[in-house]
Amino acid sequence: MEQREKREGWHSGLGFILAAAGSAIGLGNIWRFPYITGQHGGGAFVLIYLLCVALIGLPVMLCEIALGRHTGRNPVGAFRRLNPDSCRLAHLFGAGMTLCGLLALFMRSWGWGGLFILIGVLIFKYRWTLVGVMGVVAGFVILSFYSVVAGWTIGYVFKAATGQLAFETVDVAKESFGAFITHPGWAILCHFLFMALCVAVVCRGIQGGIEKVSKVLMPLLFMILLALIVRGLTLPGAMAGVRYYLSPNFKLITPQCILVAVGLAFFSLSLGMGAMITYGSYVAKEQNLFKSAMAIVGLDVLVAFLAGLAIFPAVFALGFQPDQGSGLAFQALPAVFHHMPLGAAWAFLFFLLLLVAALTSGISLLEVVTAYWVDERRWSRRKATLVFGGCIFALGCLCAVSVANWNHIKPVEQALATLFGGVKDSFFVTMETMADWMLALGGLLIALFVGWVWGVRRAVDEIRQGSDNFADVHLWSVMAGLKDDPSHNSDMHVFTLASLWGVFVRFICPVAIVIAFLNTIGWLELKGPEAKPAAVEQVADEPVADESASAIRNESHESM
Ligand code: PFF
Repeated sequence: MEQREKREGWHSGLGFILAAAGSAIGLGNIWRFPYITGQHGGGAFVLIYLLCVALIGLPVMLCEIALGRHTGRNPVGAFRRLNPDSCRLAHLFGAGMTLCGLLALFMRSWGWGGLFILIGVLIFKYRWTLVGVMGVVAGFVILSFYSVVAGWTIGYVFKAATGQLAFETVDVAKESFGAFITHPGWAILCHFLFMALCVAVVCRGIQGGIEKVSKVLMPLLFMILLALIVRGLTLPGAMAGVRYYLSPNFKLITPQCILVAVGLAFFSLSLGMGAMITYGSYVAKEQNLFKSAMAIVGLDVLVAFLAGLAIFPAVFALGFQPDQGSGLAFQALPAVFHHMPLGAAWAFLFFLLLLVAALTSGISLLEVVTAYWVDERRWSRRKATLVFGGCIFALGCLCAVSVANWNHIKPVEQALATLFGGVKDSFFVTMETMADWMLALGGLLIALFVGWVWGVRRAVDEIRQGSDNFADVHLWSVMAGLKDDPSHNSDMHVFTLASLWGVFVRFICPVAIVIAFLNTIGWLELKGPEAKPAAVEQVADEPVADESASAIRNESHESM
């Protein structure tokens, strides 16, 4: 039997909710959600996004937290504990992978062939533990590029504080942004500062580090956001922005759009890589998991929605174009703020908001990696954060110098091209794409594992500790306000929250995620007008310095 030392836990239920919401609320909400909503039908997209979050995000979130609390482990430890001795489903995946590998070798694709066969063999050996391993690897991959973008926000906080964001037009702002992110020295320095902040927090542990910081930063985030919303809405002409953001345009809704919403929901809720398994592993048995999951998802959606409300009214009021795509935050907004009274202060607050949001997410990514080495390898927390913070910093340096192209790291490009027969636009984009694939695949496997291998029955037993209503109260009775009436909660639990959740986890989520995954990897081309960021089109057509143009284009890649 494994010896278990006493493990740290959250000091309070609220601490867990704030830390998990902090993980979920990040660049995905404040940067990505508003501009994607602007491109994909405004209010109509918001509705679809809400549906995806409620129908797919919430059930998977509950799976992850339940897995974490039940096992009290990091993702690898969690799957290892519940790994069945033999599993037909796992063998099926293993055989499928090996077959794909052989096919790839047959087609002389040595890199892919070798990789698939290796994964196939590992699946036969380790079965579901591999899903946890993929989560830890995803933590590495995501943090390496996330920290680069978060580093830009540090740079912009500094620039705002020193009055360097006074741009008359979006074009000037765009040029300055392009020059900033393609300057290797600045990019690496900012990336280093962000990683150092993450390491400093994670090093201090759960209660003294992550929980303490989240309890300060999350209220701060809300306060800044509210201040920005009030400022935006009180500008003359702001209502046009509200209308643009929220009036539904159903013509822009395509099947593609729905899949974008599924992908965004996963990234934004930090699902698919075990971040919520890790945070769930520190939760006390008395805590109501269902209510906590609802609170985390609710806060995440609220912040995404409010971020749009902070941005679009101001953009409209000052006569700027709202359809700037991914350039909205770093290129259009500095120009917008410059034309406001006390603009530098508002710009400072906005980039501080982005930084705060990114920091609590970055911390959770590093915690996944750290928890594995602390739990499974018995490393001290300090050593694990320093060593792996350092490794992620090194990988991130490759991203930082290759935002635009491969010019600074030609040998890496050549090595990857030789192995895999072609490469993406840059190392940065390669990491983003890998992250997208890993999150979708991870989410699918987590739902399948809970629904079909660990079993809904056992998962529900875990969830009902601290939340009786989840499995014992007839759902119709709850909705009708009769939950305290015993005759409405008979032994025949026909329709409970638990049974509804089970159906989603076993059938609806896996099917929806498979479709979204096939779309992510490009095997499913759904027809429909693809909304293209205006900024990207503009930049692509302009003869601006090649590097910054392609950097901005890369940045528009919709995985963040
Ligand atoms: N949810 C974060 C965001 O919206 O920016 C990103 C993220 C954090 C993804 C942690 C995954 C994760 F484990």
